[in-house]
Amino acid sequence: MNFHILTLFPEMVTGGLNTSILGRAAQNGHIGLEAVNIRDFTKNKHKKVDDYPYGGGAGMLMQAQPVFDAFKSVEEKIISRGGKSPRVIYVTPQGKVFNQQMAQELAQEQDLVFLCGHYEGIDERVLQAVVTDYVSIGDYVLTGGELPAMVMIDAVSRLVPGVLKNEESAEFESFHDNLLEYPQYTRPEVWQGAEVPEVLLCGDHAKVDRWRLEQSEARTRERRPDLYELYARKGRALGYLQK
Ligand code: ADE
Repeated sequence: MNFHILTLFPEMVTGGLNTSILGRAAQNGHIGLEAVNIRDFTKNKHKKVDDYPYGGGAGMLMQAQPVFDAFKSVEEKIISRGGKSPRVIYVTPQGKVFNQQMAQELAQEQDLVFLCGHYEGIDERVLQAVVTDYVSIGDYVLTGGELPAMVMIDAVSRLVPGVLKNEESAEFESFHDNLLEYPQYTRPEVWQGAEVPEVLLCGDHAKVDRWRLEQSEARTRERRPDLYELYARKGRALGYLQK
């Protein structure tokens, strides 16, 4: 799966994503990461990418032409390798809020383009021309689209086959069933007087599984009642609800 990020700050994206698990996945060829500098596509000698908004108002807007040409260069590359015209995600607080289900859906694509805005935004005409999806990472405003794009790329990448090693691929993880993860413990058995729950030392896997499910349910009910509601509605609640 290939991620193409259209940005004015390519070093922010490549530096951030080429480390740890995603860095390894890129090295191994499980994912491709390409940051395309929109500024390289300007046609003026000062490499200016922004201008004042028509009608007045605060701040500057990214102009349509360099954004469009940056996208076209990526699209041409994808099509010349036999791919189809890619989905283009504009990361914006005005978008649909990203979640695990969207990550799963996006992980099915062969190529994804992320368009990162800066300043006060981007000329609407180029958004109309190229964007297929408007996506936000939450109801707060950041200074640019790079961090949201990186958040989404991380969440999508870990669903791409081969990116996670077996031991990293949590079959039972937060949001899998609208449940938060159970508490975990490692050595030592006693730390600052606090003991590891006895059930985890008993060696009875069925008992451990049941305890973990109960913990997940209790934790979800307490911390994320909104998620617990969805979980319980599906009739999935086993341990905690049976009591
Ligand atoms: N750009 C600025 N804030 C954002 C957010 N919350 N989500 C996506 N893109 C953004």
